[in-house]
Amino acid sequence: MSFTADRLLLFGATGDLAQRMLMPSLCALDADDLLNPDLRIVATARSELDDGSFRNFAREALEKYLPAERRGGMANFLNRLSYQQLDATTLDGFPDLARKLGSTDNGLAIFLSTAPSLFEPTIKGLQHAGLDGENVRMCLEKPLGTDLESSCEINDAVAQCFSEDRIFRIDHYLGKETVQNLLALRFANILFEPIWNSNYIEHVQVTVGETVGLEGRVAFYDDAGALRDMVQNHMLQLVALLAMEPPTSFDATAVRDEKVKVLRALREVASTETVTGQYRAGAIAGQAVPGYDEELGKESTTETFVAIKGHVDNWRWKGVPFYLRTGKRMPERVTEIVVQFRSVPHSIFAEMGATMQPNRLVIGIQPEENITLNLTAKVPGLGQDGIRLRSVPLNIAMPDAFVGQHRRIAYERLLLDLIEGDQTLFVRRDEVEAQWQWVDAIRDVWDKEEQAPKTYTAGTWGPSAAIALAERDGVSWHE
Ligand code: BG6
Repeated sequence: MSFTADRLLLFGATGDLAQRMLMPSLCALDADDLLNPDLRIVATARSELDDGSFRNFAREALEKYLPAERRGGMANFLNRLSYQQLDATTLDGFPDLARKLGSTDNGLAIFLSTAPSLFEPTIKGLQHAGLDGENVRMCLEKPLGTDLESSCEINDAVAQCFSEDRIFRIDHYLGKETVQNLLALRFANILFEPIWNSNYIEHVQVTVGETVGLEGRVAFYDDAGALRDMVQNHMLQLVALLAMEPPTSFDATAVRDEKVKVLRALREVASTETVTGQYRAGAIAGQAVPGYDEELGKESTTETFVAIKGHVDNWRWKGVPFYLRTGKRMPERVTEIVVQFRSVPHSIFAEMGATMQPNRLVIGIQPEENITLNLTAKVPGLGQDGIRLRSVPLNIAMPDAFVGQHRRIAYERLLLDLIEGDQTLFVRRDEVEAQWQWVDAIRDVWDKEEQAPKTYTAGTWGPSAAIALAERDGVSWHE
């Protein structure tokens, strides 16, 4: 349904996500005149605040997390905000919340960023107060369950009030500029699509390395682990975008139809195709950092690192391994995709003693946003003792190619799409379920084989077994 909502209701408005991402994103959109002038934002949480004290709270968050040059519209933005205290576990406060919102005839967008245990009571409360009509959209932030079963329970509860075309499931990686650029790279250039298959691609690597550790999210992270926290959502979305067939249009149904086919084609992973790890004390950028068990205050078998050799079982990707790895306390923060092409079928230079590297495409998603295509070129010279070839990078740094454009926060795009009703960059229920199905099968194998994570020193790229996982196939992780 296409309408631009003029009410935004934020649950969990005093939480970490609201402070770091939601307030800064909304304020930045406002500064660029991208918000509906009539948009009013009602914030709600358990804390006893009034409009004035919430605005002060929001101002502090903006001063902390939004760069000064993007805070131009702060006063205007703060005026849009009001606050209603709410205990979402009972129905009592919801009618007052509805009164605070005023008329929602022109559309209401709800952003639920609370503990999953509050999802169901919140939905009941919204229903009780009549805030579930056809012109209401519901946006959900992860974690949406811990396995397929619990995710289905949440989805069922939401589906009782909201039809799928009104449910917006966030995967914030889809809001990242360079992730969206994957689609432009693949489908706006004639160059790649003809060779984007197992005839020409030897393997794919996806790395999401983080230098941070637990960051105070002790209870959440120890129950989740790297597989559920990063692979189930962000990394599988990257794989889906990389591997999907060309959609017929850039439309929510067309794009998501193609992604879900990839997710359903993921092959079940054998235990020999995964490696898990947990960090021990070490150093990152010269700073000593404690081990996971020390940060947690107890021993645990939760994985803070996982490497997987996956396969997409379809015609296009037959026999092409997708090596995925992600971990906390890695040596650097980096998200990148490597597409390794095959060697040329016959080298006319071999007799002349020349060796050459097959082409490789590296897509840097963060912190550097760049695209590097390694080509083979002749080293200048007369070549009397044979021709020499070398791999040289064709390098596009996105910020240099688009000087003067903001590097936007992923949530800016997603919040705007929520308000305006575009679901293309949100995850559909069937995608989430296919993701859980694959991940649950991996966990089952770990449980069955009582596989405990291997240790690795903080500041390294995970346990040595992760290196061996790729090297067994003659592949080195790109570093
Ligand atoms: C979140 C995970 O979804 O993504 C965190 O829960 C992780 O553990 C974060 O740190 C990474 O996001 P980004 O945008 O910093 O790569």
